[in-house]
Amino acid sequence: MRIGILTGGGDAPGLNAAIRAVGRPAVAAGHTIVGIHNGWAGLVGDGDWTELTRRDLGGILPIGGTMLGSSRTNPMKMEGGLDRVQENLRRASLDALVAIGGDDTLSVAAWLAEHGAPVVGVPKTMDNDLSVTEYCIGFDTAVSIVAEAVDRLHTTATSHHRVMVCEVMGRDTGWVAVMGGLAGGADMIVIPEFAVSMDEVVEHTHRRRSAGSGFSIIVVSEGVEIDGSGGTDDPAAQRDAFGHVQLSRRGVGERLASIIEERTGFETRATVLGHTQRGGSPSAYDRIWATHVGYGAWQLVARGDFGLMPVVQCGRIEVAPIRDVVAEQRRVPRELYDLATVFF
Ligand code: F6P
Repeated sequence: MRIGILTGGGDAPGLNAAIRAVGRPAVAAGHTIVGIHNGWAGLVGDGDWTELTRRDLGGILPIGGTMLGSSRTNPMKMEGGLDRVQENLRRASLDALVAIGGDDTLSVAAWLAEHGAPVVGVPKTMDNDLSVTEYCIGFDTAVSIVAEAVDRLHTTATSHHRVMVCEVMGRDTGWVAVMGGLAGGADMIVIPEFAVSMDEVVEHTHRRRSAGSGFSIIVVSEGVEIDGSGGTDDPAAQRDAFGHVQLSRRGVGERLASIIEERTGFETRATVLGHTQRGGSPSAYDRIWATHVGYGAWQLVARGDFGLMPVVQCGRIEVAPIRDVVAEQRRVPRELYDLATVFF
């Protein structure tokens, strides 16, 4: 068989571990791995792919990013884009395609599978917001990076008696903020799922001062709307090819910090963690589970079970239709947020 692999959307640590886990057993079984470059961009236009050897697939487990490159190219929004992808799958003589990505990449994969293409998915997104699966490649590493950053912010916050606002990624869900904030001991976490007013934030910082804590660490998710402003429905906002507002450009952290300083008089600073959350080497957890889901994808290909993908449920690898995984966004449950609020 000729098996294509592509990685789409934002990169995430653990992608190479998954590519290795699909590719190495397939090559060992005598199949050919074709690396599609830069996500769906590699299957539109003239196409862009190369065959990968066993050697290419070695030594990549601990390396961040993706050896295949990625993009947010969306063939569904391009004139004739999906036809071109189907044509290129034939031109590359692919018997199977493994698409590693989040809801955008996997929505294209689901469409292709429903139109007869032999496609298998793998869950990846540092936002951790895919349905059906408890694990997405990149989330654990991102949480560790946020936790470490919050630790570091603590020491400088206490020295200067400041309020520190730490803006983290996560798109429309607060998984990275809530888990990173919990792990780092943030004293307030603001996420899109549960609205908090500016009055509550201001009151919180006052309460901490009166209780004798001269500093405060507030983790805020990039997708939060503060007092109705900076919403994601602004038609002038910059969007990517899938139509998502580029949230980092809204500057929620800076805005929150300046309102806090203005209303409390407490010296306040904002730190935007940005792409550091997606950079560098994957955590051990991401390496292990990316290996599980990558190997699971190879097993689906080997059995000829298409339109499906490996997911993690109750700590075990299961299989789900790609369509179900992208059906809706998984949001932070109330009880998890309530646990964080115990320490506010
Ligand atoms: O979806 C992953 C993610 O990292 C989001 O958390 C963030 O909003 C977005 O990608 C950033 O995208 P880009 O790398 O295109 O700026």
